[in-house]
Amino acid sequence: MSQHSRVFAPPDWSQEIYLRAWSFATRAHQHQTVGGPNKGERIPYINHIGAVTMEVIWAIAGENQFDGNLAIQCALLHDTVEDTPVTPADLTARFGPEVAAGVQALTKNKAIPTKEAQMKDSLNRITQQPSEVWLVKMADRITNLSEPPYDWDRSKRQNYQQEARLIYDALHGANKQLADRLLAKINAYSQYF
Ligand code: NI
Repeated sequence: MSQHSRVFAPPDWSQEIYLRAWSFATRAHQHQTVGGPNKGERIPYINHIGAVTMEVIWAIAGENQFDGNLAIQCALLHDTVEDTPVTPADLTARFGPEVAAGVQALTKNKAIPTKEAQMKDSLNRITQQPSEVWLVKMADRITNLSEPPYDWDRSKRQNYQQEARLIYDALHGANKQLADRLLAKINAYSQYF
């Protein structure tokens, strides 16, 4: 066999399904920005979405037990209900009930009074979803444990690290490699205190 005839084994997820959710998310998050690590810096929100989805793709590539299309769509759409006017009904109509249910579990219930209780409620709902949804939450926090926004004070950063441990404790069973990466990011986050 020549070096040009290596077998190409395509992943089990669809580029077209990816692009449909990516375009929807890009439009939903249009004009949204988040603070960056440098003073005054604003970063387009879609940067976060791309980074989270990359982590999920990395995890599913290493294990064939996952439904790649479900995992990727939930990753691309994970903040649309929490942070934009998109509703779960919109997602059900366009992407189906499984994706909508996953995104809804990843959405905090802001009627719950404290941030800690909101996170525990969301984690509880995520654990009732397929493991693809667990991957998205771990990927989300891995991404958010990069260098924090300039205006976050020390106690906010410490709370964020503490909250990340709740995520790790609840969800690490979904995928060891992604969980190990989350744990490494949690430990490294102390450098930002
Ligand atoms: Ni997110």
